[in-house]
Amino acid sequence: TSEVARMKNLNMIEMGKFQVEPWYFSPYPIEYSYIPVLYVCEFCLCFYSNRTQYARHRAKCTLQHPPGNEIYRKDDISFFEIDGRRQKTYCRNLCLLSKCFLDHKTLYYDVDPFLFYILTKRDEKGFHIIGYFSKEKESADNYNLACILTLPQYQRMGFGRVLIQFSYELSRVERKVGSPEKPLSDLGLLSYRTYWAEILVEHLMSVDGEISIEELSQRTFFTTQDIMHALFNLDAIRYYHGQHCIVLSERVVEAYERFKKKKHRKVDPTCLKWTPKV
Ligand code: COA
Ligand code: NA
Repeated sequence: TSEVARMKNLNMIEMGKFQVEPWYFSPYPIEYSYIPVLYVCEFCLCFYSNRTQYARHRAKCTLQHPPGNEIYRKDDISFFEIDGRRQKTYCRNLCLLSKCFLDHKTLYYDVDPFLFYILTKRDEKGFHIIGYFSKEKESADNYNLACILTLPQYQRMGFGRVLIQFSYELSRVERKVGSPEKPLSDLGLLSYRTYWAEILVEHLMSVDGEISIEELSQRTFFTTQDIMHALFNLDAIRYYHGQHCIVLSERVVEAYERFKKKKHRKVDPTCLKWTPKV
């Protein structure tokens, strides 16, 4: 099928205390297009075309967190797991919102086959959505993540890294290697490359002697293809005497040392309370 790139149809979205400008077309109903501001409830993700309707909704809306189970909490950061089959409206609203920031041509309205993992920050008002990723309940291709989004008001603060790490923590519990669904967007690929490099260099620096790609995969739950991709990207694969070996250049090691000095947000696996659904 060929699809024409659609013109961006929304000017501005207001969510809680933030206003953000959409990046791409999103198939909100036509009567919500080309209005000055679309008001989105940050708890239930329902949307309104004017402030009066939105205020009326906010007076009634009792939701203070995403409509699912809280499966992770550390400090003010929580993850909620939502089943697309059980929370269709919420998940469809989430897909509409995230399409504003995703360049993919198609959006999956059929939310039933997916679980959604919502990352939130808690304050006295409730659990505010920062971003999410979706995951197929059954993936024939070993995908552990379908779609990933950090809302623009929270980007470049390390939350993308948190979402990616969380997807691999779930894979660790499942004891299955996993990989993000392709194609990734430019920003998605940048974030994954940074994450893979950090984790792989960390593992490589901690081993004495030899480690195979297969062993790295067992330790990280990254696929061997993703490991090869990341190592090529670090220019760390060398061919000596008919064999491939991994060599970390001084430049890579120095970049890693600098990276370690920055304080990065991390998922604490001991705070995850989750068993995979069968
Ligand atoms: N420019 C350059 N590097 C970037 C970048 C950007 N705009 N955004 C992320 N990166 C890289 C950086 O190396 C960054 O680490 P640093 O900030 O320490 O340099 C690393 O990725 C992680 O950044 P982080 O702050 O954890 O990511 P984020 O919260 O901004 O989220 C995405 C990353 C991809 C989830 C976010 O950009 C997004 O939602 N984009 C729109 C939706 C999308 O494209 N999703 C992927 C589709 S499959
Ligand atoms: Na960052």
